[in-house]
Amino acid sequence: MAILPPSWIGILGGGQLGRMFTSAAREMGYEVMVLDPDPHSPAGSLASEHLCADYRDPSALDRMAAQCAVITTEFENIPAEALDRLAHSCPVHPSADALAVAQNRIREKRFIRELGLPTSPFISLQQDSDLQRLDQVVYPAILKTATLGYDGKGQIVCADAEAARRGYAELGVPCVLEQKIDLALELSVVLGRDTRGRSRCFPLAENRHAGGILDVSLVPAAVDEALAAQARDAATRIADGLDYIGVLAVEFFVSSDGELLVNEIAPRPHNSGHFTQDACHCSQFELQLRMICGLPAGNLQLQTPAAMLNLLGDLWPEQGEPDWASVLEIEDACLHLYGKKQARSGRKMGHINCLAASRQQAEQSVEHLKRMLQTRS
Ligand SMILES: Nc1ncnc2c1ncn2[C@@H]1O[C@H](COP(=O)(O)OP(=O)(O)OP(=O)(O)O)[C@@H](O)[C@H]1O
Ligand SMILES: [Mg+2]
Repeated sequence: MAILPPSWIGILGGGQLGRMFTSAAREMGYEVMVLDPDPHSPAGSLASEHLCADYRDPSALDRMAAQCAVITTEFENIPAEALDRLAHSCPVHPSADALAVAQNRIREKRFIRELGLPTSPFISLQQDSDLQRLDQVVYPAILKTATLGYDGKGQIVCADAEAARRGYAELGVPCVLEQKIDLALELSVVLGRDTRGRSRCFPLAENRHAGGILDVSLVPAAVDEALAAQARDAATRIADGLDYIGVLAVEFFVSSDGELLVNEIAPRPHNSGHFTQDACHCSQFELQLRMICGLPAGNLQLQTPAAMLNLLGDLWPEQGEPDWASVLEIEDACLHLYGKKQARSGRKMGHINCLAASRQQAEQSVEHLKRMLQTRS
């Protein structure tokens, strides 16, 4: 049976993704309970109720399970014991099993390979004896911590096996070591899979990174339909393999010789899917809500070409705010800010979706905005 407004929805995690989910759900008349230990979490202030407690806090978890019709998560690193406790008395989507795969790069890459999908060639490094296999990798390679990496954190580029040996010693935790791919481009597919196992994909985004962090996403992606179909098919197979319910993002590399490789998955709405807020009738956050509530997907078609620009803390002047007045003068620039009090270098503070008649014009708007915001910071 579908979960309809004004039911209560629970979400674990109150960062920007939780905030945008909360906003979409409340807009549709649902009540939202956010669990996040940070009293100033971006989602907390928009929630119907903010439980300011640790993710393992039994009384907060029990209160959420008692009040909510369904519970979802904002990030993959929710403690498994919290999900287990909730799942005893309330549906939780995505499942603890799906999150467990996405939490660990070794498990994730093995899972993707077992589905017959290509990834960049890699080895796992979990104990010193694994170092004997360092010569099985083509260099340069990238060493990545198996858990808790995001925005390029916990990654070391290694020119040779000796550098990988040193990097592994430095990181001191289980890692993957993967071949550095000569990239033609990066793509992502954001999809929703419902309780009956049907998946629907948003149009592909083409993603550009700066300093290991997503900088700009462009839609439509500059790829032919055959490659787009291959990416959608791979993403759908991953969702099916996880028996996934909710929104799932799959990041891809396209190598300079045209091969499509799966980079990683994110069991939630994704930064590269933010364009959907303004360029599609149904946003990725509304899709997440619809999927976990047993509702059909909305209209996911692209209504207009778009370019999304991430706003990192680096753009903030020492005192005050960036020049929002100038941003808001641009008719087709849609500003989204996350309400974070402290701007730090590399911290995601907001984003702007630029809509235009063509992808090229949307990209030009983003370049214009970047120059404007950078010169004033
Ligand atoms: N094997 C690789 N070859 C080439 N580039 C890579 C490789 N691995 C990572 N990168 C580059 O670094 C970026 C971040 O890597 P990855 O997605 O693994 O990290 P992350 O920390 O999980 O990032 P996020 O959570 O922001 O997606 C990639 O989008 C890509 O630009
Ligand atoms: Mg990534």
